[in-house]
Amino acid sequence: MTDPVAISFTETDLDALETAPGLVVVFAEAGRNLGLAGRRVNRLTRGALKRAADSEAFAKLEAGAALRLEWPSGMEAELVLLVQLPRRADVAVARKAGATIARALGEKGATVLVEGQVRAAEISFGLALRAYRFDYHSTETPAYGAVRFMATNPEKLAQESAPMAALAEGVFFTRDLVNEPANILTTSDFAARLAAMQELGLDVEILEEADLEALGMRALLAVGQGSESPSKVVVMKWNGGGDEPPLALIGKGVVFDTGGISLKPGAGMEEMTMDMGGAGTVAGVMRTLALRKARANVVGLVGLVENMPDGKAQRPGDIVTSAKGVTIEVINTDAEGRLVLADVLWYAQEHFAPSAMIDLATLTGAVIVGLGHENAGVFTNNESFSEAVLKAAKLEGEGAWPLPLQPAYDKLIKSRLADIKNTGGRAAGSITAAAFLKRFVEADVPWCHIDIAGVALPPSETELAPKGPTGWGVMTLNRLIAEKFEG
Ligand code: BES
Ligand code: MN
Ligand code: ZN
Repeated sequence: MTDPVAISFTETDLDALETAPGLVVVFAEAGRNLGLAGRRVNRLTRGALKRAADSEAFAKLEAGAALRLEWPSGMEAELVLLVQLPRRADVAVARKAGATIARALGEKGATVLVEGQVRAAEISFGLALRAYRFDYHSTETPAYGAVRFMATNPEKLAQESAPMAALAEGVFFTRDLVNEPANILTTSDFAARLAAMQELGLDVEILEEADLEALGMRALLAVGQGSESPSKVVVMKWNGGGDEPPLALIGKGVVFDTGGISLKPGAGMEEMTMDMGGAGTVAGVMRTLALRKARANVVGLVGLVENMPDGKAQRPGDIVTSAKGVTIEVINTDAEGRLVLADVLWYAQEHFAPSAMIDLATLTGAVIVGLGHENAGVFTNNESFSEAVLKAAKLEGEGAWPLPLQPAYDKLIKSRLADIKNTGGRAAGSITAAAFLKRFVEADVPWCHIDIAGVALPPSETELAPKGPTGWGVMTLNRLIAEKFEG
């Protein structure tokens, strides 16, 4: 797994600043005097820092952004970053400041002078998230140097940062999984990485094809039958909450989606290595819960399959019977995610009697048409439950927006030959996918379906992630669990 950049917390040592390598970071607020560290850097640079802090350019910066003083004289550092930040910045702004530092970070590391900053732990968290770098398959990327936070009370800061390190590790786990190509992250490799989390205290069970067959999961198995990689369902249990019924998290884990016989066009198909993003998020949340020993019962279930076209692959027009017994006409083999989720949702309900369920899936291109890459689409059978999810997302700065799911859409997935069909035509593509899933959820189980097709791997960098996977949802679900399912 990609390790977060090393961050240590030490007491402020102004005398070390002259020879600090790489990057030195000072915080200031326009119109206010420099702090102790700022004054020392100003003295070393013979007044350059104060000139920058007094400049119009600095006054115009938004909170969390920075001015760069490159190759400062009087210091060994290659760059001094003067970050605009109020002492009592809110969480989002503090994380943004951390991300600003990460963007300037190099091989020689950084010294960050956080004296007086109330949200110093959030600064370190934002830095860690933005300094993600997936370099397993590149022989040329140099690693980031270590980061040293200098603070008045380093022990307290280290303590505050510890649970955030668990969260960063969960996010990184998700990002790594989404980054891995499908020849490496096969269904078996994915399952093995999840099984390895038993070391963290998770209970991990792998259901193999014979088990899935016995459970009647023909919808899920049909998706994987054209692949050399065996289909699997992996169940991860975290029991930190006594006898409470668990929250169930369900993830779509299509390790590669060619579309099957309804083959996708070639251009951009390589992106379909990310079609296991829902399963990746579930895995990242479970990792975080275990690392921070959450006081909640949560079960994570992922359906791992590969959607390939070959002689054994399912065809358009095939009719399959799901574990629930609902028969499905497969109009388009590229609408495979819902087939996988149908059986895993049903299994989660039957075996764990969850108090609530959330599924995450890179389910439809239509959600990108509707919401772009800023928001995941949130569907529900229970408004107050989805409000809690949306609120958690908002507080974590992860875009999420409600979409409708009324019974009126159900008629679009009626089939002439079977109970339902797996596509509903061009109109309301994300909603008919959600309406399909709803058929496999009991009405009295609060449920949210989150379509993350647009946010799991956006086309450009985001505030807290370099270009590549975001790990969308790990922070949101971790907060939801902390606030609604623990305590
Ligand atoms: N995995 C795709 C959805 C997707 C598209 C994810 C773009 C990420 C980026 C899904 O399996 C799919 O192919 N959906 C089809 C459904 C259609 C055939 C009804 C789609 O959205 O085109
Ligand atoms: Mn597909
Ligand atoms: Zn797919």
